[in-house]
Amino acid sequence: MAEDAPIAVILAAGLGTRMKSDTAKVLHRVAGRPLVAWPVELARSVGARRVVMVLGHQLEAVQRVLDARYGPGAVAVTRQERQLGTGDAVRQALSALEDEPKDATVLILSGDVPLLERQTLLSLTATRGHAPLALVGTRPANPTGYGRLVRDSAGRLMRIVEEKDATDEEKRIAEVNAGIYAVSLGFLRAHLGGLTTRNAQGEFYLTDLVGIAFREGSEVRTILAPEHEVAGINDRVELARMDALARLRIAEAWMQKGVTIVAPETVSIDADVTEIGKDSEIFPGVSLRGNTSLGMRVRVDAGCVITDSVVGDDAVLKPCSILTESRVGPRAQVGPFAHLRPGSVLSEDVHLGNFVETKKTSLGPGAKANHLSYLGDAVIGARVNVGAGTITCNYDGVHKHTTVIEDEAFIGSDTQLVAPVRVGAGAYVGAGTTVTRDVPQGALALTRVEQKHLEGYAKRKRAREGKKSEGKKE
Ligand code: UD1
Ligand code: CA
Repeated sequence: MAEDAPIAVILAAGLGTRMKSDTAKVLHRVAGRPLVAWPVELARSVGARRVVMVLGHQLEAVQRVLDARYGPGAVAVTRQERQLGTGDAVRQALSALEDEPKDATVLILSGDVPLLERQTLLSLTATRGHAPLALVGTRPANPTGYGRLVRDSAGRLMRIVEEKDATDEEKRIAEVNAGIYAVSLGFLRAHLGGLTTRNAQGEFYLTDLVGIAFREGSEVRTILAPEHEVAGINDRVELARMDALARLRIAEAWMQKGVTIVAPETVSIDADVTEIGKDSEIFPGVSLRGNTSLGMRVRVDAGCVITDSVVGDDAVLKPCSILTESRVGPRAQVGPFAHLRPGSVLSEDVHLGNFVETKKTSLGPGAKANHLSYLGDAVIGARVNVGAGTITCNYDGVHKHTTVIEDEAFIGSDTQLVAPVRVGAGAYVGAGTTVTRDVPQGALALTRVEQKHLEGYAKRKRAREGKKSEGKKE
């Protein structure tokens, strides 16, 4: 990565007590993605060559999530033992940056601010130029709680005053600090050590760097961002609001890329969905979760829930189908009410109809299972027809066993396949058969008891029952 690529420091050691949760605040999710991953993704999107996260008491749990997502150590983690303020938090991160040159750009981000835009961060970096420090300001509807940007008569930013230290007059300032900075590493090294706790909260304020820069004669530049973009999350109400906002933004981004979304306010697309191809259509109440990807012209009808799955071009997912860790090939048709559990792999042109459940099962090109079946631990060949009500009996109470159905076999309705078992290519299994032994290629398997007829039975039965009911009347 380029020498002038920035370094990101993400502050996330706050306690998050207002979440009232046993889970670390930054592991709660917005649009399916843990809060803590949002600034990491953002930092990477602007080319950050290094990401350092400052964490507190729940460090281990957060680090596990980061390691699982980005690879072990890809996001460096430093511990802030006690939450002594934002200035102290950044200071903890410096120990991880000792080998970096002093002219490196450090982007300081917050672990609980998910919706900051890439463009805003790029313009912050551009605005800083060669100044030691630049920051993002905002004009919130209600500035209470924020640090206010105090400017001189010429409009130059002189210092930031925190809410608890502000005079009544300062509290009337509408422009506040969003807590997002671009700063030179050298400037941080030179001044973080000199911060004091002489303020209303007894904390090391990172924001004191602004006053220090001004007194040094350096201009502190600012850019303005909309409030929703820089808003942090402190409780679950704010979490829900951000989640709704994020999801709407995600839906709109897909629409701009050529995806039709009907009633987008009812559709929920996770931030980590990687692809939805052009001219795909998403109907109301659909949920696309995790690391899911859809091809082109895919139709996802109402109420489908798709998690960590891949769907090929021109596939049709009829209403209320549930897919988890599965793959659906091009032109396949699924549902309504199909349930693809982990490890289901449908080749092209497969038809899987209503109330069909699959698990660790593959179906070859053009195979069909259209009604009411359970297909688990099965390998099903090309153009196989699985009749209604077919069950793979894959579990003997201890172990799971595999059913193999070779190409072009025909499985009659209401068949039980007691695994391990194999049906040879092109073989027929008669309706109602319980298959317990391998069926040779091209054979017909039948286990039905032969049908017999009792002639005249119905007439005799009615006569009998007629007498009985007359008898009762007497
Ligand atoms: C800070 C700014 C304030 C700004 C506001 C924007 C300071 C002194 N004030 O307020 O001007 O308007 O952000 O939201 O910086 N954190 C740590 N360790 C700590 C303290 C905080 O890691 O010891 C982290 C938090 O987890 C959070 C971020 O830093 O991600 C900001 O902390 P928070 O307490 O929300 O900000 P304030 O200090 O209230
Ligand atoms: Ca604070």
